[in-house]
Amino acid sequence: MLSQPAEDQVYFPPELVPVVSHPIVRDAAPGTVHRVLVERLFHYLHFTTELESVAVLPVTVDISRGRDDLDLGAAMREDAFKISTDETWHAQFSHDLMNQVSAETGIPLRTVEPTFLRRLEDVRALMEPELRGAQSLAFCIVSETLISAILADLPQDRRLPAAVRDLIRDHAEDEGRHHAYFRSVLKYFWHSLSPDQRRLLGPWLPELVTIFLEPDYPAAARSLLAAGLTTAQTEAVLAESYPAETVRASIADASRTTVRYFAEIGALDDPATLDAFHARGLTDGLAL
Ligand SMILES: [Fe+2]
Ligand SMILES: [Fe+2]
Repeated sequence: MLSQPAEDQVYFPPELVPVVSHPIVRDAAPGTVHRVLVERLFHYLHFTTELESVAVLPVTVDISRGRDDLDLGAAMREDAFKISTDETWHAQFSHDLMNQVSAETGIPLRTVEPTFLRRLEDVRALMEPELRGAQSLAFCIVSETLISAILADLPQDRRLPAAVRDLIRDHAEDEGRHHAYFRSVLKYFWHSLSPDQRRLLGPWLPELVTIFLEPDYPAAARSLLAAGLTTAQTEAVLAESYPAETVRASIADASRTTVRYFAEIGALDDPATLDAFHARGLTDGLAL
């Protein structure tokens, strides 16, 4: 057992899953909200496993092997070995918990590729050739310095099974250390780029932030369809649950610290880069 089921137990905070407040979902067959929340947890855990495996570990392993062109020094290489160990463990325990929750709830796993992976590949294909080597490190720095509401809020949420809270608390503690590390990697990284590379990479940064933080709409749609909603109902629920302004404000909120780090190293001094951050609303509420 993952936990003693409590009256108000949920597998994911409903406040972070706007579709479950929609009247079509609330009035759907009994158990629909429960199922959608469990599938949101599956998606989060699978996202974590994929993020660590595809976007973080290749970068930290390269740094630990001294294959990063950043001149990071021995101490930072040693830390990269430790971070690789942490991230491998995060991938493993997320995968393991996903299987446990599926067994306990009887809700089958239907893991499909999180949308961020395809979007990252699209960006890689569109990027100027001289940036391709920098994209992986840039995305890794973005994802490691963002403060997700999930890591910050879930450990305190007593409605969640203890195993879920404990896993996310352990992950959040490790990510606190990684955050400081990648803040310094960012300085080395930015100074290792030529002025031309900085000018070309800067306007891509808001896209990388958005790719990491934007809700995975196709995943939400699949979950609603699997719960028995029609295509028309699913489209209506998605359109009404994610107003563009709300999504934009939550992305700006979660990325504020990362955007400040980019401003501190001078990335936003370039007018095209600053425009790209403005256009995405990522500078809203920031004193630059
Ligand atoms: Fe991690
Ligand atoms: Fe990390």
